Amino acid sequence: MRILLIGPPGAGKGTQAVRLAAHLSIPHISTGDLFREHIDQGTELGRTARTHIHAGLLVPDEVTIGVIKERLTRPDTERGFLLDGFPRNLAQAQALDGILADSELRLDAVLDLAIAEGQVVRRIAGRRLCRQDREHIFHVDYSPPQEAGVCDVCGGELYQREDDREATVRQRLEVYRTETASVVDLYQAQGLVTTISAHGRVQEVLHRALDAIGQGQADAADTSM
Ligand code: AP5
Ligand code: MG
Repeated sequence: MRILLIGPPGAGKGTQAVRLAAHLSIPHISTGDLFREHIDQGTELGRTARTHIHAGLLVPDEVTIGVIKERLTRPDTERGFLLDGFPRNLAQAQALDGILADSELRLDAVLDLAIAEGQVVRRIAGRRLCRQDREHIFHVDYSPPQEAGVCDVCGGELYQREDDREATVRQRLEVYRTETASVVDLYQAQGLVTTISAHGRVQEVLHRALDAIGQGQADAADTSM
């Protein structure tokens, strides 16, 4: 399956994407994670991305589209993929259309995670990520690690993202409203979007997502990480 996960910052895209991708045996591709990898490796692309990420703005399209194009040529995407955080504006949506059309492929579904802004701020304020594997996501109150500051899965150090300061989060929300919301409208017009509530427990949201893509009967029991 080829699925997009869209939603405001902190809606739980990464949290759900890891579980959905594991369940569907397809790669989870997060542009945010790809940029953070570049930043940690100190690449030139990482330096460009960092400036924009820290300001709560979108990384320029030519950079982002280049990263996605390269990622979608890797063999693990032949079975499908779950895109998290791409496309984020109409130019990126158009680029994705072109990439898929070149291989005579189409999207199967767009999952739109809906959440109130107050909850976004609480979720982001308490988020902690693992330095060794960015897919290991915790929350100090909602899904705390057994030992503070240590990843339950691999023992990596947990840290707070630099763009998770409140002022930057407000800016990211503004970018979502002004640039990304129109992507949802675009796919809505193509009949691809299912909007699901991102409120409630992680497991409940996962069941809603699986139902939305016609996988609701499958056992989603192992959602521990
Ligand atoms: P990106 O990394 O994509 O960030 P984002 O969209 O702002 O979303 P987040 O990762 O902050 O939130 P999430 O929805 O994944 O929530 P999570 O699962 O972690 O992008 C970062 C930046 O990179 C952008 O601002 C931009 O600069 C750049 N960028 C990325 N893509 C780009 C693109 N296409 N074009 C241009 N620039 C781009 O959950 C949040 C917290 O809530 C966690 O602590 C989690 O444990 C908790 N939580 C999750 N679900 C629940 C639940 N059901 N109940 C309670 N707590 C929960
Ligand atoms: Mg994320």
